[in-house]
Amino acid sequence: MAIENQSESEFKLVGFKNFVRRNPKSDLFEVKRFHHIEFWCTDATNAACRFSWALGMPIVAKSDLSTGNHIHASYLLRSADLSFLFSAPYSTSRAPHSASATAAIPTFHAAACLAFAAKHGLAVRAVALEVADAESAFRASVAHGAEPASPPVLLRGRTGLAEVRLYGDVVLRYVSYKDPSHASHADPSLWFLPGFEAAAASFPALDYGIRRLDHAVGNVAELAPAVSYLKGLSGFHEFAEFTAEDVGTSESGLNSVVLANNSETVLLPLNEPVYGTKRKSQIETYLEHNEGAGVQHLALVSEDIFRTLREMRMRSSLGGFEFMPSPPPTYYANLHKRAADVLTVDQIKQCEELGILVDRDDQGTLLQIFTKPVGDRPTIFIEIIQRIGCMVEDEEGKVYQKGACGGFGKGNFSELFKSIEEYEKTLEATRPA
Ligand SMILES: [Fe+2]
Repeated sequence: MAIENQSESEFKLVGFKNFVRRNPKSDLFEVKRFHHIEFWCTDATNAACRFSWALGMPIVAKSDLSTGNHIHASYLLRSADLSFLFSAPYSTSRAPHSASATAAIPTFHAAACLAFAAKHGLAVRAVALEVADAESAFRASVAHGAEPASPPVLLRGRTGLAEVRLYGDVVLRYVSYKDPSHASHADPSLWFLPGFEAAAASFPALDYGIRRLDHAVGNVAELAPAVSYLKGLSGFHEFAEFTAEDVGTSESGLNSVVLANNSETVLLPLNEPVYGTKRKSQIETYLEHNEGAGVQHLALVSEDIFRTLREMRMRSSLGGFEFMPSPPPTYYANLHKRAADVLTVDQIKQCEELGILVDRDDQGTLLQIFTKPVGDRPTIFIEIIQRIGCMVEDEEGKVYQKGACGGFGKGNFSELFKSIEEYEKTLEATRPA
């Protein structure tokens, strides 16, 4: 579906089956990758430690009182290319006015952070992208309708940072580096942001196999204005879309559009609730509890989902993350028919033991599982995925996996409902009359 040059009122979902995927390579500025995700909270130490333990992501860098930051405590978790940052304010009563100069993140604001945490609970404040040049990305976005959140700054003459509003109280943060070799440095003030210092290494080293961020999903009240706003400010194209009808049941209660950058490595799906279904839309529940739009889930790629899940499940009742209930055995009986050409019998057995879901599209296979909401409110949760297939070679002969190989799990909605129905029938059959 082409919606370029269409006004918002003309925006219309065509559904998964009618959607024609094409990549117009229409980015307004050069986007390299997801850079980090920042959570705003009221106590960064505790939030960071919980996520570190639950996901096997060591705390690798910090900016806090111990590094001379009198404004905020920030802890950075990292596992390969995935970075999560947790930030919370120090007391504003004790910091002298000049202390604001000690903040490592120039866009941090104590009162805004406290208001954000009070309104949303534990939530994502920033989805950060590494771009070629933060200033020109900001200017291009604002020229194309973006609401500025924080004007461009050049930190220590080498790291660019700017922010525009994404949805709700979430910002899209642009980060860029003057030094092309920044990533090869060991010092976090060079590879991450100035003002950050290396944290003491954890022992034993934490690593459950999580490697990068695949997609960051936003829930919004209305899809059409959110899609045209984000498309407009970034030039990102529509990569996929799903409607409630597509998933073979009206129960899912959501419509969804996935936006992607030129290389389709930055995937930003957006969901809206569908009203009037039998069960209340989970998106509606989110919007109520989050008090508006926000990040619904973060999908993290594992290099070995079986290992990651074994490690995570071991810690579920020890301060880690809990998972959504596993599908009934009928789901896995059907899976032998659906995925026998891709997964071995042993792998299907492991999927069943660990409660992993499997879906396919015309290109590849997706293994996925969802945690329960990770904070107090029924809002943000984590998805762990592994994608199989779609390996292609670039011009230089380097083999890589195409973005979103295997899709986003659309087929699992109908498979799950089908298997639950089948399972309930087997229970009825065994129930004494
Ligand atoms: Fe997802």
